[in-house]
Amino acid sequence: MRVTVFGTGYVGLVQGTMLAEVGHEVVCVDVDADKIARLEQGIIPIFEPGLEGLVKENHAAGRLSFTTDAARAVAHGDIQFIAVGTPPDEDGSADLQYVLKVAETIAEQMEAHRIIVDKSTVPVGTADRVRARVDEVLKARGREELTFDVVSNPEFLKEGSAVADCQKPDRIIIGTEDEDSVEMMRELYAPFSRQHEKIIVMDVRSAELTKYAANCMLATKISFMNEIANLAERLGADIEAVRQGIGSDPRIGYHFIYPGVGYGGSCFPKDVQALIRTADEIDFDAKVLKAVEARNAKQKTTLFAKIRDHFGGELAGRTFALWGLAFKPNTDDMREAPSRVLMEALWQAGARVQAYDPEAMEETQRLYGHRDELSLFGTKEAALKGADALVIVTEWQSFRAPNFELINSQLAQPVLFDGRNIYDPARMARYGFTYYSVGRLP
Ligand code: UGA
Repeated sequence: MRVTVFGTGYVGLVQGTMLAEVGHEVVCVDVDADKIARLEQGIIPIFEPGLEGLVKENHAAGRLSFTTDAARAVAHGDIQFIAVGTPPDEDGSADLQYVLKVAETIAEQMEAHRIIVDKSTVPVGTADRVRARVDEVLKARGREELTFDVVSNPEFLKEGSAVADCQKPDRIIIGTEDEDSVEMMRELYAPFSRQHEKIIVMDVRSAELTKYAANCMLATKISFMNEIANLAERLGADIEAVRQGIGSDPRIGYHFIYPGVGYGGSCFPKDVQALIRTADEIDFDAKVLKAVEARNAKQKTTLFAKIRDHFGGELAGRTFALWGLAFKPNTDDMREAPSRVLMEALWQAGARVQAYDPEAMEETQRLYGHRDELSLFGTKEAALKGADALVIVTEWQSFRAPNFELINSQLAQPVLFDGRNIYDPARMARYGFTYYSVGRLP
């Protein structure tokens, strides 16, 4: 099948590549000419395991091409994906200008029936707005005879495992009432739905809400666990035992109940806020979502509070080694990363930071290269030298079994703040560390 994907960000690039990988002919289009030129050379703008090789292979095989030429792109695909960004407005609601602009472009260029698919995370009602915009443009062109459908097909991939998530989706949501569109979408996704039926067809608004509900549910699990971890700390209980104790109930499950330093990234914070705004707009007070958001904002400050309390509030002139800057492992993404809240609080208090991350160094340099209070190091060991404590912010695999004797010898004081509970408190005590983690007994 012929497919066009507007937007070569995370979602568009991964989806386009994976559709090409199973044999579809995919054209990816973006307004950023530099990005397109780099993609043509196989240089991908993000760090995502496995993606670069797949882009190169499919490009070489002629199934995946990149262009800035919107007319060519609209002429190509019977199915036109909209996978452009929906950044938050000042008030937290999703900014739809890029989505609507693509809708306009498709309407301006189309000469035959088109299925327009919203892949970006967009508020409930967006498909109707896309439809209205396309209608308007077709009318202005005097081409009302051209037919189209707008389908909601939200994306559920996770950064760091996007390729695998796309290859083996838990479900594929298709929101439309048009039988022909359902048929086309089924054919498009058939290679991903072979062993088990993964496709769930529903009306367009339910599909739009499903995306938000999924992310908000996961964010709720995390905020809930963070709240219980805070309670455990104060009540003398161990959140690790509690986690296992509740996770064994299949109705609760083990996924996404790891307490930590709060959720970050480009999705959970944005989507929770956007659904709160959507609710506000219809005068509905989304109490649970507001609490989830508030707990998360607070959780991002807890690591700093522990550091401050340990040093009796005297942080000026101290140096902290930070391991992990990305909002989670296997990505270089620092959007809404808890590391940023921590570093900024430390700097505010007059402390210095010596940081290391396996992938996010360039991004950190871009964001904070101008800060004298930050030094970046090429290895995790180098970042330790002379620091008053080590702080673990992101649970990269390569941090899980370090040389503790070396850490101890490099730090000015053997103090370790673990924001992700990756070490065993008893072992830390044996190595002579004063060890702080999240919601566990010392
Ligand atoms: C999330 C969802 O997991 C995807 O299903 C969804 O498609 C995506 O958003 C999206 O809307 O595009 P992602 O933001 O890549 O994916 O990252 P997650 O792996 O979900 O992690 C989000 C945050 O939650 C991270 O900061 C992570 O450290 C934190 N987290 C996760 C916890 O603190 N505890 C947990 O138990 C799990």
